[in-house]
Amino acid sequence: MQSTKDCFVFALLSFIVGINSQLCHSATPYERCSANSACGCFPVIDAQNTGACAFLWKSCSQLVPCGPSQECSQPDHICVHHRRCSNSPVCYPMSMVNENICPPISNGTNETTTIIPPDTTTKRVQFKRWKQNATTVAGGHGQGDEFNQLDHPEGISIDQNKNIFIADTLNHRIMKWKPNETEGTIVADRSGEENRAEEVRHPNVIILGQNNSPIIADWGGKRVIQWFNQTHQEILIENIACSGLAIDKYGFLYASDSRQNQSWRGDQLNQLNGPTNIFVDDEQSVYITDSSNHRVMKWRKDANEGVIVAGGNREGKNRNQLDYPRGLFVDDYGQVYVADCNNRRVMRWKEGAKVGEIVVGGNGYGSQSNQFFNPMDLSFDSEGNLYVADTFNHRVQKFDLISQ
Ligand SMILES: *[C@@H]1O[C@H](CO)[C@@H](O)[C@H](O)[C@H]1NC(C)=O
Ligand SMILES: *[C@@H]1O[C@H](CO)[C@@H](O)[C@H](O)[C@H]1NC(C)=O
Ligand SMILES: *[C@@H]1O[C@H](CO)[C@@H](O)[C@H](O)[C@H]1NC(C)=O
Ligand SMILES: *[C@@H]1O[C@H](CO)[C@@H](O)[C@H](O)[C@H]1NC(C)=O
Ligand SMILES: *[C@@H]1O[C@H](CO)[C@@H](O)[C@H](O)[C@H]1NC(C)=O
Ligand SMILES: *[C@@H]1O[C@H](CO)[C@@H](O)[C@H](O)[C@H]1NC(C)=O
Repeated sequence: MQSTKDCFVFALLSFIVGINSQLCHSATPYERCSANSACGCFPVIDAQNTGACAFLWKSCSQLVPCGPSQECSQPDHICVHHRRCSNSPVCYPMSMVNENICPPISNGTNETTTIIPPDTTTKRVQFKRWKQNATTVAGGHGQGDEFNQLDHPEGISIDQNKNIFIADTLNHRIMKWKPNETEGTIVADRSGEENRAEEVRHPNVIILGQNNSPIIADWGGKRVIQWFNQTHQEILIENIACSGLAIDKYGFLYASDSRQNQSWRGDQLNQLNGPTNIFVDDEQSVYITDSSNHRVMKWRKDANEGVIVAGGNREGKNRNQLDYPRGLFVDDYGQVYVADCNNRRVMRWKEGAKVGEIVVGGNGYGSQSNQFFNPMDLSFDSEGNLYVADTFNHRVQKFDLISQ
């Protein structure tokens, strides 16, 4: 049995070499193996410490599982581990394992290129960029409770019309700022009105439900409330310490609860330590900022453990680290955008990457237009402009998109 297997692996490896493509000798999936930053190492099934250097961004939906004896029935495919796409091995097309697409890292230089193969079934990786200097679109007039002020805003959401909804946390209110307005209006606040059943205290997360009605994590009241209008509110969840809310495409609501059962708390892949913000993608994978573990986790639907998709190297300010990450967003290409709170920056981690890139900020703490003081949430409008809740500066910053 063993020799059959060895023989099979040998055949596979000869196949790879035979078509003039590269092997990579790394046990670490997706490790850099080419001058093309869009390539990485895929461990070949049953070949110890040997992988195929291939283009990383082939669409998961185009890949079929390997057969029962780890074979691929389609011609010119090899069976590889690709846990970003599937827990069981998948067949990867040899056309993506190719020196033209993934040229070797040449000796004297550390030049990086980005080559996207001309293959329509390949997911296009986006390289969006934003202006590094923001404009203040809400608050920015110091800490306070006037209509043009905010007090430690921790959560934001933008609707289709670019209205900004803000969890104005220490003012115990939800504000709505229309675009280009110098003042906001109160959507929800602490009670005081006789005919109102509900109130919000220390709201820290806001997302938009049906008809843009805010769904609010009411941290002080330990519950989640949907706020239709001043006379109609509904309590959706009670007895929860929630700092993260999301709705998936089927309308299911997801909420994080930081008062975990002790046995779930820790830094193993099936544990969390201070889960805060969450995001749910179209495949119902849940992304969680595991704040006190300084990492972002991805849990596929029905998985019994997560994978680290950003950080996970203790707190610090290197590009492979985060420091109390908070708000997050994941785009259609699996790239994670995260408010790296204590590092005063927004980072982007490509799917499978070991380091992130600084998107905006990272210029120390302060109140210049390219600085933050503990940013805790982020959101995008329909045109791709980036909004950041610059919490300790009591303002919301907008960064204009400059390239797709
Ligand atoms: C790169 O470096 C290795 C070891 O230093 C050497 O054997 C090889 O010939 C070099 N390749 C090129 C293309 O210069
Ligand atoms: C590699 O890149 C760094 C900065 O990115 C640069 O300072 C260094 O000179 C480069 N090394 C070579 C050999 O090109
Ligand atoms: C806001 O102002 C900018 C420029 O000042 C303008 O381009 C934009 O159309 C305005 N938006 C709205 C919704 O009025
Ligand atoms: C408040 O919302 C409820 C449910 O959406 C609706 O029936 C009611 O008419 C609304 N009231 C006002 C004053 O808008
Ligand atoms: C915590 O989880 C363990 C194992 O699932 C369970 O036995 C225990 O009852 C839980 N405790 C609480 C307080 O929920
Ligand atoms: C961005 O802001 C910084 C800090 O205020 C300033 O030094 C720099 O000139 C600004 N850049 C642009 C392009 O406005």
